[in-house]
Amino acid sequence: MKAIVTGGAGFIGSHLVDTLISRGSCVHVIDNLSSGKREYLNRSAEFHNIDISSSDAYNVIVSERPDYIFHMAAQADVSRSTSSPFEDMQTNIAGTLNLLEACRHFPVKNFVFSSTSAVYGNVSSDIINETCHPSPISFYGLSKLTSENYIKLYGDTFEVPFSILRYGNVYGPRQTSKGEGGVIAVFLEKLLRNEKLKINGDGLQTRDYVYVQDVVDANIDAAVKGKQMTMHISTGERTSILQLIALLKRYHSNEILSFHTTDRQGDIKHSCLDNSLAKRELNWKPHYSIEEGLKETHLSLFN
Ligand SMILES: NC(=O)c1ccc[n+]([C@@H]2O[C@H](COP(=O)([O-])OP(=O)(O)OC[C@H]3O[C@@H](n4cnc5c(N)ncnc54)[C@H](O)[C@@H]3O)[C@@H](O)[C@H]2O)c1
Repeated sequence: MKAIVTGGAGFIGSHLVDTLISRGSCVHVIDNLSSGKREYLNRSAEFHNIDISSSDAYNVIVSERPDYIFHMAAQADVSRSTSSPFEDMQTNIAGTLNLLEACRHFPVKNFVFSSTSAVYGNVSSDIINETCHPSPISFYGLSKLTSENYIKLYGDTFEVPFSILRYGNVYGPRQTSKGEGGVIAVFLEKLLRNEKLKINGDGLQTRDYVYVQDVVDANIDAAVKGKQMTMHISTGERTSILQLIALLKRYHSNEILSFHTTDRQGDIKHSCLDNSLAKRELNWKPHYSIEEGLKETHLSLFN
């Protein structure tokens, strides 16, 4: 299999590249290293240090004619999308459109897109499924939702095959505190500096934390089995901030100190994604419990 991974020097993308290469695929990475790191790049991948919205990126697709494109490159920082909506749009929407145009003229077997639960905004239901109405409250969520809509219309109009994967809060080794869903990375970076952990509000707010290797496996499964679908890649389970800290205390050899501040304005209390569609359609399921995933992540920094 020949694959192009955009964002293959980033947190999730670099793990995907490693797994694809370990399974014998030929992999090209398109990444401008804006948040990705050269040291995460797999040496067996062909690296193109270019912007996804450039004609160079278009030409890589034309010349390499990949079977699959895993589109993970993004401006994934919510607060940056607020300070620079235009930049966010250029990367997330125009960049995606550029890749779709190449796929329109030079067909691929599947275009797998990394989307996010941020498309939903403040949905009040206990567990969100894919039929819930998206209503983003950040420019990042809006740019991801708009890209999804472009992808679906390219699918309908030009028969570009696609899988849209909306992730919960992804965590694991190589994640930094920048970008999406980074509370675990934020806490671990604090622990590395021997600083106290800051808890917003009562710490009972919950999120659906999914381990990076489970997200990688879902991408590969979706490439083959998940055409013309939008689905959640998540655990379907809630973990609170206080539970996260209790788990970290199990794995960390030094004392962990924390303090509470006021709730962050606009933060939703609970967010959990129903993953039954992906389980059914891809025959995929998350293999890592939060205990196992957090232990692996902690180990990658403190071994
Ligand atoms: N981390 C999460 O919890 C999470 C949750 C939901 C969705 N996602 C999505 O998953 C994908 C990967 O996220 P991540 O956490 O690995 O982020 P990341 O920032 O670590 O990776 C993004 C990569 O894209 C590259 N990039 C950014 N703009 C680019 C451009 N214009 N041209 C070429 N390369 C560019 C960066 O250098 C980086 O290597 C993103 O699309 C993100 O929106 C992430």
